[in-house]
Amino acid sequence: MPIRPFEHHAPLIHPTAYLDDTAVVIGDVEIGQDSSVWPLCVIRGDIQSIRIGARTNIQDGTIIHVTHDSRFCPGGQATVIGNDVTVGHKVILHACAIEDYCLIGMGTIVMDKAVVQARVTIGAGSVVPPGKVLESGYLYVGSPVRQVRPLNDRELEFLEYSAQNYRRLKDRHRG
Ligand SMILES: CC(C)(COP(=O)(O)OP(=O)(O)OC[C@H]1O[C@@H](n2cnc3c(N)ncnc32)[C@H](O)[C@@H]1OP(=O)(O)O)[C@@H](O)C(=O)NCCC(=O)NCCS
Repeated sequence: MPIRPFEHHAPLIHPTAYLDDTAVVIGDVEIGQDSSVWPLCVIRGDIQSIRIGARTNIQDGTIIHVTHDSRFCPGGQATVIGNDVTVGHKVILHACAIEDYCLIGMGTIVMDKAVVQARVTIGAGSVVPPGKVLESGYLYVGSPVRQVRPLNDRELEFLEYSAQNYRRLKDRHRG
């Protein structure tokens, strides 16, 4: 069963959201209006919560998890993803925050307590180290990521286009 509860929490998925049959969603997870989760994603909200906003796409093979409460991380750490976010193929988002209108390039890893502020693009294959804050409106690439330059108007426009494009695509998949 790909969508399943864990202890006292069951996933809450908006009726307009799209989940591929092969995606696995467990526990304290909320997925908002018109968002989409593509083949072979794992979204495991067992030891803390995962929140995904509206019109956000989580592309194929992405893994989203959290950190548990311990003396190493008091209270644990949730993962929060905003609205209109594009998460590329095979990304790992671990106990971090991604604000609205970001694009997380394919194969990127975002680690605990990192914050990606609104309207940031991260190049494919990047690593965002624990606790790092990526400043709104910039392009970041590399492992570890470095700030490259401000996004230009066309790139900022693309962030909105990408979210809308995936919203339309999920409607075609829903049939
Ligand atoms: C980063 C990206 C957005 C565009 O880069 P760009 O327009 O070439 O940017 P620039 O020309 O300003 O390049 C900046 C520098 O970063 C380098 N660079 C580009 N992409 C990079 C990446 N993924 N990792 C490391 N370095 C990268 C460029 O070679 C350049 O290096 P230089 O300054 O030494 O010459 C693009 O390469 C990318 O990775 N896009 C992600 C696409 C994706 O995963 N989409 C989601 C799935 S649909």
